Amino acid sequence: MGYVDDGGGPAHAHGAAVSVAELTGPQTGEPDVAVELEARKGKVHLASGEVVDGYTLDGSSPGPLIEATQGDLVQVTLVNVDVPDGITLHWHGVDVPNAEDGVAGVTQDAVGPGRSFGYRFVVPDAGTYWYHSHQISHEQVRDGLFGPLVVRPAGAPDADQDVVAPVHTYSGRRTLGGATGITAVEAPAGAPVRVRLIDTDNGPLRAWVSGAPFRVVAVDGTDLDGPTDVTDKGVLVTAGGRMDLVVTAPARVDVGGGTALVVGPRGTRIAAEPQPDADVDLLTYGTPAPLPFDASHPDRRFDYDIGRSWWVVDGTPGFWWTINGHLFPDVPMFHVAEGDVVVMTIRNTSGQVHPMHLHGHHAYVLSRDGEPASGSPWLVDSLNVADGESYVVAFVADNPGIWVDHCHNLDHAADGLITHLAYAGVTEPFQVGGPADNSPE
Ligand code: C2O
Ligand code: CU
Repeated sequence: MGYVDDGGGPAHAHGAAVSVAELTGPQTGEPDVAVELEARKGKVHLASGEVVDGYTLDGSSPGPLIEATQGDLVQVTLVNVDVPDGITLHWHGVDVPNAEDGVAGVTQDAVGPGRSFGYRFVVPDAGTYWYHSHQISHEQVRDGLFGPLVVRPAGAPDADQDVVAPVHTYSGRRTLGGATGITAVEAPAGAPVRVRLIDTDNGPLRAWVSGAPFRVVAVDGTDLDGPTDVTDKGVLVTAGGRMDLVVTAPARVDVGGGTALVVGPRGTRIAAEPQPDADVDLLTYGTPAPLPFDASHPDRRFDYDIGRSWWVVDGTPGFWWTINGHLFPDVPMFHVAEGDVVVMTIRNTSGQVHPMHLHGHHAYVLSRDGEPASGSPWLVDSLNVADGESYVVAFVADNPGIWVDHCHNLDHAADGLITHLAYAGVTEPFQVGGPADNSPE
């Protein structure tokens, strides 16, 4: 699809090639964590009692928490019991080898009803992640095919108590950990509690804390340097992104719609304070530190300009997303070689917010609207790019494959706000459509 954008670097040479399908995780060895997940279509029983139509993994949505320790070999067997359109699982935020990435039509075929598929990968970094289907994802994720994934640091266990808090809206009901209303978690007064917020919806999640100051200790699985106490601001979690807060019990974390987490001694009640007008600005929050690579002389520079224009597509006139002025599928294919330092400018003039997600990599935010980042190094896999904003990010191309780079408002992705990052020497054996009916977005 699309046209080649070399970003000012050398064009890909022809020659020795490896297929996406060969870029797997370890094929042998005892897994440290082995999980089987059964995917079904049917009723979803929310933890708070409501019942909605959708999909489940092992009988519930969110699916079970997968927990591992940094460096573990994780093995997940996905069994599609009766999801008619087929499914896959993508490990959002985990930089897995390409063939384990779970994108239908790009890294594998969709897994049809009655079939199964095995994923095996080492989890390289501790942090908060999630998994979700990447087949017809705008429908399957919305309707429940996702779950949380937490990687604990190796060595000393976390001292803090920990709450995994995926936030999802089922048919208009905002939930936290699958429950509407108040979720109470017991913690002694004065105890620090790490709340791992995961935004599994299509839009930005605004959360706020009542009762005590808090700190933002991690974003997209990476700890921040020098987080300071916040009292009068909320937080914005990018769609698809994660944010770990440390609150001191008793405290209340609101995620909107009256849905909240209350941590404290049994029976604690805390009224929600009004939602603050402003959110913590990660561009300036925390303490700066040098980046692990030099982004001042990149090997490639790419623009990812998001606009919107009037086109007629398949006979249907409408406003469609554009990338660098082009309409899907005639969008740029960003070409890189392994080891390249890449700088990308993401500019949004489309009138709506876009949570941009590059698979297989994490990028440092260098600047926003020309203002250099001056807080903690800010490493993202999901970046909230509001209308009118422009971000410069940098990453090292260190994970060969063909990777999608798309908006995580999955309806936007389904409408063509998606492109690819392609490494030299990697060939693509899968296709969208085809006998497996692959439809990644
Ligand atoms: Cu969370 Cu391409 O996905
Ligand atoms: Cu979007």
